[in-house]
Amino acid sequence: MNAFDAMTGRTSVNFFDTTRPVSTDEVLDILTYAQEAPTAFNIQHTRYLVVTDPDAKETLKEIAFGQQKVADAPVVVLVLADNDGHKKMPEIAQRGVDAGVYPQQAGDYMVNAVNGSYAGDAQKCHDEALRSASMATMNLMTAATAKGLATGPMIGFDAARLKQTFNIGDQYDVAMMVTLGYAREGNWARKPRLSAGEVTVLDARPGQAHSFS
Ligand SMILES: Cc1cc2nc3c(=O)[nH]c(=O)nc-3n(C[C@H](O)[C@H](O)[C@H](O)COP(=O)(O)O)c2cc1C
Repeated sequence: MNAFDAMTGRTSVNFFDTTRPVSTDEVLDILTYAQEAPTAFNIQHTRYLVVTDPDAKETLKEIAFGQQKVADAPVVVLVLADNDGHKKMPEIAQRGVDAGVYPQQAGDYMVNAVNGSYAGDAQKCHDEALRSASMATMNLMTAATAKGLATGPMIGFDAARLKQTFNIGDQYDVAMMVTLGYAREGNWARKPRLSAGEVTVLDARPGQAHSFS
């Protein structure tokens, strides 16, 4: 399946085949693609909690206000946004240096720049972490679709209870919950989208009034 087909073929699935599991290797492969998403300075703020145990999924279902698909999907991925992700920058920059992608000087520059940009600015850290986690989640869903699996992104859950129940530390926000498995019959078809033309201003210029002014 090419990228275009994966993007247009993905829908949010409500009904999963409860008899068809997804292997750990498959999950890790999909998350490897999720990790290919870009992030500011390559900080990579996204972490994942993978829930597969039936009892754990039942608990998760309650936290998700009873949404049945959470229990039905063989896998639920809790996508975490690490608000302290930038603190890993020295290690991340060094990996780039060691891999020969950029010189030490560039790595050192990045560490300083990240410190200057994020340290002490909780709102910026949060926004950046959520941005990163969102991009990773899209990759996750596209990769899953390309492999013939179905997904459902979800934010309908009690975030505070989820964090407490699954022992998620203060520095993390649950950006999204993603159900993952094989679709069964009965799901909705693709929903129509606003066309690109409807939501786009072409040839925007400074000072010009437009649809979004
Ligand atoms: C951030 C986010 C949160 C969502 N939360 C839920 C949810 O809690 N429950 C649900 O059934 N669908 C949820 N959805 C699915 C949306 O309703 C769905 O993406 C949208 O209607 C477009 O349909 P499509 O994904 O099939 O293209 C969520 C989607 C996103 C992106």
